[in-house]
Amino acid sequence: MNTIQWHVDKNEDKLFSYPQIQQAAHLLQENEVVAFPTETVYGLGANAQSDQAVAKIFKAKGRPADNPLIVHIAQLSQLELLVTHIPEKAVPLMNAFWPGPLTLIFHKKSGAVSEFVTAGLDTVAVRIPDHPVALALLTAANLPIAAPSANLSGKPSPTHANHVITDLNGKIAGIVDGGPTGVGVESTVVDCTGDIPTILRPGGVSKEEMEAVIGQVDVDPSTIYPHDKPKSPGMKYTHYAPTAPMYLIDGEKEWAQQLINQKRLNGLRIGVLASSETARYYKADLVLDCGSRHDMHNVAHNLYYMLRAFDEASLDMIFAETFSKEGVGAAVMNRLEKAAGHQMIRQSEGQ
Ligand code: TXA
Ligand code: MG
Repeated sequence: MNTIQWHVDKNEDKLFSYPQIQQAAHLLQENEVVAFPTETVYGLGANAQSDQAVAKIFKAKGRPADNPLIVHIAQLSQLELLVTHIPEKAVPLMNAFWPGPLTLIFHKKSGAVSEFVTAGLDTVAVRIPDHPVALALLTAANLPIAAPSANLSGKPSPTHANHVITDLNGKIAGIVDGGPTGVGVESTVVDCTGDIPTILRPGGVSKEEMEAVIGQVDVDPSTIYPHDKPKSPGMKYTHYAPTAPMYLIDGEKEWAQQLINQKRLNGLRIGVLASSETARYYKADLVLDCGSRHDMHNVAHNLYYMLRAFDEASLDMIFAETFSKEGVGAAVMNRLEKAAGHQMIRQSEGQ
């Protein structure tokens, strides 16, 4: 399949009427799959009402069929077509964070979207993205659009159109290139079907920010510990992983450098993911600086670009520093833990 690429300047006015957006929307209406930028990561969109269209997403990504998709809408008025009711606690969250990097889980209205979108669950995940290109495309298509991150299953999510091309060129109908995304990690997924809203996947909106709006917010244990049956099915799969095995390292930089030296003496090629505070200190085959510990939004923004960059350096092992789990740091650490398959080497363990 020939994958069409459209380039769109997200800062232009009236994007909706652009021929690139109109063409991409037309392909979505014809049940084809189109990648597009959101404020978090690139999404791989298809008509959420069509089995045939949604099946193409799963096929292109190699995604397990039991992992449900997020439905993207452009306006609040589309929500009531998808859900049985809007829980009281969801309203202030929607008012505060939509459009934005927050996905809410509702009881789904039967028949509203393809069963493939919800993977047999009786709930549906919905968000309004905060990106002018995504909103223009959703408005032009005039459909609810199911969209997972536009990467091959297991790989880090794409934050640049080039990442989508690397993973999916020739497998999808088109890519709208609207430049790099902003937030860099995916939306926060919050279950609103119970009494207390519960975070199923940490993301662009932090627990602290939500608590400031609605009080108590719980965190599903599967976001912290590996778990066989997480409430968000996607959380059980290995994700975000560079090709070389990754290990989190928890200790002083001098200790970490000794560990690196030891491995390199054994002939291994070593990569390091470090903060700006320590990156210059390390000697290894590839050292990537993902930003200052004092600006975790910037670390989140850079994270997937860095994880993908390791794949170009033929490494045998990658060591990644750990970060604070406060604010958006919770999402950064969740992704790093998953990329490392929860493998951590601690200085106190005498390594
Ligand atoms: O920022 C984002 O959320 C991006 C952009 C493209 O919008 N999308 C994204 O989609 O990250 P995806 O498919 O990579 O992740 C969706 C997550 C998965 O962990 C999935 O299991 C969970 O949402 N999910 C979807 N529907 C659900 C449901 N009904 N109940 C529980 N979890 C659900
Ligand atoms: Mg994903």
